[in-house]
Amino acid sequence: MSTIVRTSLATTSRSALTPTTRLILSRTCTASSFHHLPQPVASSSRNDSRSIHSSRIAWGPQPSAKAQEAGASLALQPGVKQREEAAPAASKVVGAEGTGSEGPHYQDQVQHPHDEPLTGPWTLMSPIYTEAELDTVKVVNRTPVTIGDKAAAGAVKYLRKMFDLLTFYKAEPIPKEILDKKPVPIAELRAKGQLLSNDQWLFRIILLESIAGVPGMVAGTLRHLRSMRLLRRDGGWIHTLLEEAENERMHLLTFMTVAQPGLFTRAIVLAAQGVFYNAFFLTYLISPKTAHRFVGSLEEEAVRTYSHCIEDLEAGLIPEWTDKPAPRIAIDYWRLPADAKFLDVVRAVRADEATHRFVNHSLANLDQAKDFNPFALHEADALTRGTTWGFTREESAKFAKEQHLKMMEEAKQKQIESA
Ligand SMILES: [Fe+2]
Ligand SMILES: [Fe+2]
Repeated sequence: MSTIVRTSLATTSRSALTPTTRLILSRTCTASSFHHLPQPVASSSRNDSRSIHSSRIAWGPQPSAKAQEAGASLALQPGVKQREEAAPAASKVVGAEGTGSEGPHYQDQVQHPHDEPLTGPWTLMSPIYTEAELDTVKVVNRTPVTIGDKAAAGAVKYLRKMFDLLTFYKAEPIPKEILDKKPVPIAELRAKGQLLSNDQWLFRIILLESIAGVPGMVAGTLRHLRSMRLLRRDGGWIHTLLEEAENERMHLLTFMTVAQPGLFTRAIVLAAQGVFYNAFFLTYLISPKTAHRFVGSLEEEAVRTYSHCIEDLEAGLIPEWTDKPAPRIAIDYWRLPADAKFLDVVRAVRADEATHRFVNHSLANLDQAKDFNPFALHEADALTRGTTWGFTREESAKFAKEQHLKMMEEAKQKQIESA
């Protein structure tokens, strides 16, 4: 299969890419190059990278008058800084006027034509779903086959048990006769530990997401180093892995914006991350296949947890979130409508988790040293990602070949049209 995938991908030129892929590529270039960053102040030195690099990159004190005059500083714009400082705590919770818990991105400083802050394509990708695609996501169990698969599935099962204990989570269904009561005795169910409160959900989700952002970055870093060490290209894996890491970080930032967690949660996140980063790093060094399988199984658990949360939300069992608006950071990232609800956010997050499940199980089936990433040119469609656990190696080869042919055909068509 590696031959098929390699042949099909190796001949693709940039001009043959679809608009979506070109958009992704152009965003990547934008993110990695200061030359393309929009300059907030005018522009005599717009392309002067030396002056930009020599200036201070910080959210700290204002730039000097000289630097402002030259338009060379990356320090926070006065208007944005003011807005950050003046934003009342309440608005920070949903990110309505202010931002999340991390401060703004540099591109937030670009003034929107309608004077609206915070609308920039400042991420590697923006997953956008239709309602039908969000509805299709389901739990799909993959039966472990190899010893590595069984070890990965066993580790996830064990971690899940520990995690459930730590977050007071019970996956047992609540009897129908209790749910049929009007009103449902929510306080009583919470007191008995049969129902998570909104704060308990956020605690669980933040712990889950702070760990989930690690594998993509570790795997991307190790493959990045390998590529440089061997002076060899990577076949498109690194980009997808970094996209996964960023997507998970956006999940975390979204829920952090809502939860505004205290010292206790932050300390647990710190400890969990310290242990998990090193454990995953070693696992990936020893057996990347098992590491991807582990992530596939972990993501399956994430789909399960979010499905439970969505069911509770839809049944009115988390009343604090019934009419809760989506945080601004989520509206921006998933391109949700301005009046989107928190439920829409959780549904989009679940669809992302299904994608990670699908991608990691598919990658685990490949030859880690030789095969191309089948999703380097195009993602599988949302229905496939949401309802199947992944592609076999042969299916990956077929998919990559189909995408390549499709792109070549599109490019040919464009050439004919422009001639
Ligand atoms: Fe996530
Ligand atoms: Fe995930």
